[in-house]
Amino acid sequence: MKGEKESFKQESVINGRFYNRREFIRYLMTGSVMTLTSLAEANSAIYQSISSLDAQFLEGDSPDGTYWESIRRHFVFDDRLIMMNNGTVGPMPRPVFNTLTQWFRIQMTNPFDVYNFLPAKAEEIRQKLATFINASPEEVIITHNTTEGINFVANGLDLQPGDEVLMSQLEHPGALHPWRLRAKRSGVVIKEVKIPITPKKVEEIVDAFAVAITPKTRIISVGHTVYITGLITPIKELSTMAREKGILVLADSAHGLGMLDLDMKKLGADFFASSPYKWLGAPCGVGLLYIRKEVQDRLWPTIVTSGWDTYPDARRFGTHGQDADALVLALGEALDFQRIMARKGLSEG
Ligand SMILES: Cc1ncc(COP(=O)(O)O)c(C=O)c1O
Repeated sequence: MKGEKESFKQESVINGRFYNRREFIRYLMTGSVMTLTSLAEANSAIYQSISSLDAQFLEGDSPDGTYWESIRRHFVFDDRLIMMNNGTVGPMPRPVFNTLTQWFRIQMTNPFDVYNFLPAKAEEIRQKLATFINASPEEVIITHNTTEGINFVANGLDLQPGDEVLMSQLEHPGALHPWRLRAKRSGVVIKEVKIPITPKKVEEIVDAFAVAITPKTRIISVGHTVYITGLITPIKELSTMAREKGILVLADSAHGLGMLDLDMKKLGADFFASSPYKWLGAPCGVGLLYIRKEVQDRLWPTIVTSGWDTYPDARRFGTHGQDADALVLALGEALDFQRIMARKGLSEG
């Protein structure tokens, strides 16, 4: 016992000073608190600066060009570049970058935080994300990206050989290939539904899927934000039609978070996958999967570790090993940034 204490003492020499266990933990906690205080101060200064830019703009003191140039400085984006692609990965607001780097510092310098502190914080963000899309926290997990979310659905449903999946001709590879894999493995059949490129009415899309449905159709897996044409697919109407026939709907909304006002209760899809680093300003490597409560018992988790079979809700689809919690914390800041910007937005002016 004595030897054990001695060796702990030996391991806890910081800047030439010995720390006992209690002092050592206090040292670590204080480190985190100091880092978080300086983070809050840095970010608050940015939000204040954006506020005064908005005020100047609304009073007409600042012409458009100057305003947007100043706003741009609050994004960490190379000055020599002009951003023309919000697909794949979009630019990151500086408060999100600050949050990301500070939380990485906390995670890497205080690794013991992964036991309680970081998971508790990450859980707050999961709940915040659910609120952002008007879903219950029981229906939301944080994934790594849209592709992962779609794989979770394609892998996790009990499907028989010959069961049909309807997809349009405009699907992204990240949505198509999880189903192609499932087709190879389990004999599921992917049926392509041709939808009009420039539809004039919602019915043109809903009807195209409706006529393709057979007694073997189990799910419609469709792009919500179609990456080739810019179409916003009428998921609400599609879901209403599909539910009447007992068919599931998976919406690939890779671009939806931060680009569209999202309300899961109104949208009605059974599954909804998104990547908040395209339009919301979150870091690459965090994603959203929404799983409607009523269909959760029809899905198996794909990745599991301890606890998965104890959760009564979507959290059973979200257990995994250690992860970069800083990404999740930065997602939380991206949600705040979006809400703050929307509140101060010019549309209110
Ligand atoms: C419509 C659509 N679906 C899925 C994806 C895949 O997204 P991720 O690579 O973030 O998983 C993309 C990527 O841009 C996309 O545009």
